[in-house]
Amino acid sequence: MITADRIADLRERCAAVRGAGHTVGLVPTMGFFHEGHLSLMRAARAHHDLVVTTIFVNPLQFGEGEDLESYPRDLAADTAAAEAEGVDVLFTPSVPEMYPEPTVTTVHVAGLTEGLCGAARPTHFDGVTTVVAKLFSIVGPCAAYFGRKDFQQLAVVRRMAADLDLPVEVVGCPVVREHDGVAMSSRNAYLSADERERARGLFAGLRAAAAVVENGERDAGRVRAAVQAEAERHGVRFEYAEVRRAADLAPIAALDGEVLVAVAAPIGQARLIDNVTMQIAGDEVSVDLGVITLATQESSS
Ligand code: PAJ
Repeated sequence: MITADRIADLRERCAAVRGAGHTVGLVPTMGFFHEGHLSLMRAARAHHDLVVTTIFVNPLQFGEGEDLESYPRDLAADTAAAEAEGVDVLFTPSVPEMYPEPTVTTVHVAGLTEGLCGAARPTHFDGVTTVVAKLFSIVGPCAAYFGRKDFQQLAVVRRMAADLDLPVEVVGCPVVREHDGVAMSSRNAYLSADERERARGLFAGLRAAAAVVENGERDAGRVRAAVQAEAERHGVRFEYAEVRRAADLAPIAALDGEVLVAVAAPIGQARLIDNVTMQIAGDEVSVDLGVITLATQESSS
């Protein structure tokens, strides 16, 4: 594995590899790797000749008063983990390398960014799409791997790539969960033992949603109520709990087709998000809660 921190180096390397007839798989991240990140690297490794992983804690996607300064970082551990997954190039640019001048050009995806996380974080998705558009431009034609954990982000990035005819195939990968169902997140590092216990309320709420739908419930309001009631039993108060059409995140009153149930909740210093998707056709329901890992990733220190 080589580590690059210059845009020109990464651009040149990707172009050379494509010139030799090979394909490129890209995994954009903000680092502090867990199994969720590693699963994306594995998917890219399985399908492409050159795997590029990027680590950049992107200031543009953090709002005022958010956790930009305290966002967890561990470049040494991340480098070892990426190498172990067979990543070829680890791109770790500085802030001035990515934004040498004050940014006056941004990418805005309308509509899809307005509800769910966009309601509480009005500038967040412009930051995400701007940095991801830059990474797509630097890397060039490739397949880019994103987690369904951040379902709205995936939908927004996919739409950006389609609308701007970017030569990038956007690939969505399953949510990876801890052994008790809590979705893996770099921000889980902020949780105390008590808060970590309470974080289980998000997954419990989503499981309750899946259970009522499997039992025939199709009313979005009643599904939301089931999520909320279960989460409250765990002491979790949601920032939002929403039922949406998965394809375009439109609000729906009745569940049919591919449906997203998405939640966000503040737990201690962390703001956690999670979701479940369900494919509904008449009485048939297929639930995708993601992948539960058997081994825990908890550190002993
Ligand atoms: P980050 O939070 O580091 O996540 C990087 C990628 O890992 C995203 O595609 C995210 O959806 C995925 N991911 C995180 N937790 C996951 C989990 N438990 N299971 C599966 N995938 C998971 O998302 C970002 O960084 C940034 O917004 C970024 C896209 C890099 C732009 O700055």
